[in-house]
Amino acid sequence: MKYAIRAGDIEHGGSASARIKSELSRAGVDATTARRAGIVAFEGEMNLIVYSDDGGTLSVIVEPDAVMIELEDTGPGIEDIDLAMTPGFSTAPVWATDLGFGAGMGLVNMQKHSDIFEIHSKLGVGTRIQCRIERKGDWAMNRREG
Ligand SMILES: Nc1ncnc2c1ncn2[C@@H]1O[C@H](COP(=O)(O)OP(=O)(O)O)[C@@H](O)[C@H]1O
Ligand SMILES: [Mg+2]
Repeated sequence: MKYAIRAGDIEHGGSASARIKSELSRAGVDATTARRAGIVAFEGEMNLIVYSDDGGTLSVIVEPDAVMIELEDTGPGIEDIDLAMTPGFSTAPVWATDLGFGAGMGLVNMQKHSDIFEIHSKLGVGTRIQCRIERKGDWAMNRREG
């Protein structure tokens, strides 16, 4: 499923990732994987809303062994990816920080909750982020079942 995210549309911030979470439960994805995918999707969705020039797309693909989350936009691009990935680094505008966004932990958390995290970005061209979250199963439940 592919969701179009509009730049600046803070009013609907988080609605696509919320839909992805229910889509994943419906598809039978375990709760732990769905929660991780939800975090990845939410942070990616918010970044499209806050930073993209013209919005972008948030896609989810459910594979037998993994959930893939992909984000794509057409600018402005990220000048220094290492800097953007530094915990606490943020260029969030005042309207976003006023709403509590801009902690500079979004990309860090996307990477943390992904088993494979790839980010490609080019100034003036755009940003593409691909995340693979392995369906390892609900750990607590696995433990209970021995
Ligand atoms: N899609 C994007 N396009 C351009 N810049 C981005 C994008 N996503 C993230 N960034 C840059 O990376 C920084 C860090 O992002 P993130 O870790 O999500 O923290 P935050 O959103 O709280 O600033 C942002 O402040 C912004 O400068
Ligand atoms: Mg962010």
